[in-house]
Amino acid sequence: MHPNAKSSITEHVLRSALKTEVLGRDHIEIHERIDSTNERAKELALAGAREGTLVLAESQTAGRGRLGRIWHSPPGLNIYLSLVLRPELPPARISLLTLAAGVAGASAIGRIIGQTPSVKWPNDLLLQNRKIAGILAEMNMKNTKVLFVILGVGINVNLSAHDLPPELAAQAGSLFIATGRTWDRVEVLAAFLYEMEKYYKFLTQNRHEELLNQYRQICQTLNSQVRFVQQSNLVEGTAIDVNQSGELIVKRAIDGEIVHVNAGDVSLLSIAPKHLADDC
Ligand code: BTN
Repeated sequence: MHPNAKSSITEHVLRSALKTEVLGRDHIEIHERIDSTNERAKELALAGAREGTLVLAESQTAGRGRLGRIWHSPPGLNIYLSLVLRPELPPARISLLTLAAGVAGASAIGRIIGQTPSVKWPNDLLLQNRKIAGILAEMNMKNTKVLFVILGVGINVNLSAHDLPPELAAQAGSLFIATGRTWDRVEVLAAFLYEMEKYYKFLTQNRHEELLNQYRQICQTLNSQVRFVQQSNLVEGTAIDVNQSGELIVKRAIDGEIVHVNAGDVSLLSIAPKHLADDC
């Protein structure tokens, strides 16, 4: 058994730690091993699962990341969760859910460990310049209506540097790697769900600007030089804002034009080196 792996998360312990009204309050499933919690949550949602349904796993064999990547999901160390959400929001606002999850993750982690992660747009949480959490929202629509969104979140809690495959060794981190001690996964999970519910309400109650203001405060991409690939072209510029659809607004270096960058169709290649040293 891995020295950092503590007891498995149980429904009983989780329910007693929860302070939410909806998230994780109806159906909870906890799997020892599953392909992807997002996939399972989608099955449940298609079968009618209610808002707040929560799927957790101790490990994933095909954890999905953004842009078709794999999410490294070793057993017993981290949090792999998916929530079924049924927001009354137009499709153009759905990207804000991932920003809400970023703000929620940063504030939950900050409250527990005393160091607040920054966000690399759109939703990578970074501590000491290492990615410690990722968010993958998958939307299901009928005609122009959003039927449900699966919000998948992976938080590296007690993963150590030895657990990382060589290709992730330079950029991935965890709460353990950042602080040198292990953390209670249930405490982190309950704090995340509590904060997520709070920021989710900002969205459903039309308080987008408040959410965006919180996001802007922790987003290290803003005011940085960015390079990204959009429709096969390499674009460089300065990130100046994030708008009400969650798009990054960039002033293009070559001609000063303002371009809107959508999380779904770009890879952000780098941010300004001066920001790489901070955890803002
Ligand atoms: C990213 O690429 O940053 C997004 C990673 C999202 C990973 C989580 S782990 C739980 C949920 N299930 C999945 O298959 N993916 C998400």
